[in-house]
Amino acid sequence: MTEPVVSVRDLRVYYGTPRGPARAVDRVALDIAPGETLGVVGESGSGKSTLGRGILGLLPEGTGIAGEVLYQGRNLVGMSKEELRHMRGPELGLIFQEPMTRLNPLLRIQEHFEETLRQHHPKLDRDEIRRRALEALGRTGIPPTRYKQYPHEFSGGMRQRIMIALALVLKPKLLIADEPTTALDVIVEAQIIRLLADLKKTSGTAVMLITHNLGIVAEACDRVAVMYGGKIVEEGDARKVFANPVHPYTRELLRSTISLETKSLHTIPGAPPSLITPPPGCLFHPRCPDAMRVCALKAPIEQRLEDGRRVQCWRHGPAEAIPDGGTEPLEREEIAVANEA
Ligand SMILES: Nc1ncnc2c1ncn2[C@@H]1O[C@H](COP(=O)(O)OP(=O)(O)O)[C@@H](O)[C@H]1O
Ligand code: SF4
Ligand SMILES: [Mg+2]
Repeated sequence: MTEPVVSVRDLRVYYGTPRGPARAVDRVALDIAPGETLGVVGESGSGKSTLGRGILGLLPEGTGIAGEVLYQGRNLVGMSKEELRHMRGPELGLIFQEPMTRLNPLLRIQEHFEETLRQHHPKLDRDEIRRRALEALGRTGIPPTRYKQYPHEFSGGMRQRIMIALALVLKPKLLIADEPTTALDVIVEAQIIRLLADLKKTSGTAVMLITHNLGIVAEACDRVAVMYGGKIVEEGDARKVFANPVHPYTRELLRSTISLETKSLHTIPGAPPSLITPPPGCLFHPRCPDAMRVCALKAPIEQRLEDGRRVQCWRHGPAEAIPDGGTEPLEREEIAVANEA
């Protein structure tokens, strides 16, 4: 296997809250190879954005972070703000959800590119900046005639493409896109997803694509990581996971997307777990249709399946770690008691 661009090991992120620390990312491990797109999915509040920001060192002041984000042999966790700032752009790129808040309304598109490129390549002259900017804009489908226009002269979809071009112009090795299409209509969304998919072919960029839209993942991602309560509960080849989800939460999540055939929307009963006082055992057990007694007692141990998939669910073993009687179905009364504990 090729050397991954980034290796995350045992990453933990805690937000300070008045009620105690909230464990928003809990012992996450993942690798992304050059030219690979990893989709990160899960309900709102499952820790997707926190994971993306944690990898790039962009968490709010005072947030607790531990573990490793290995990039070219160095751990980004614990690196100074100054060092990280140098790496952002040419090494690590980020695309946010709301493009308008990141483009300065007083500056032309040209000036945005000049500012971005000069920050990292102070010696570039205007012609070279223009050449690189137009190339990046061209890849996102923005014609050169619009180089001197202001952000308000563009539609939301075009502004998002400009943001992507601003990230691309620095040729980052790792690009994290956090819900990059949520505010856009489906046609623009499809264009942007195609653009991100092309990226990996043409430049070998490793992409982490955070989205709650499973259709996008099926279309654009090689692998998918499913998050629940700050943990990756299932991770593997996107096609295999979608064709045959093995974690009950993944299954429920897939069922909860609108089916064109049945025209019905299934919602997962119950609510996501508290990150401050999480339930004991498996975080999903209060909502899980397959819960067994062991699930309310012990957190599942990550297993690697034959197809390379990783899964955290007692239904997939290891059998020897399950106490006697642990595979009995979990009674709802027991669930209520476990929740109060
Ligand atoms: N700055 C913050 N302070 C405290 N809690 C936060 C902060 N940002 C996010 N959270 C909490 O962390 C959890 C994960 O949030 P987030 O990473 O935004 O999830 P997602 O992107 O999957 O919706 C949520 O419970 C959220 O309320
Ligand atoms: S460990 Fe138990 S409760 Fe958790 S997902 Fe698997 S079967 Fe459901
Ligand atoms: Mg988010």
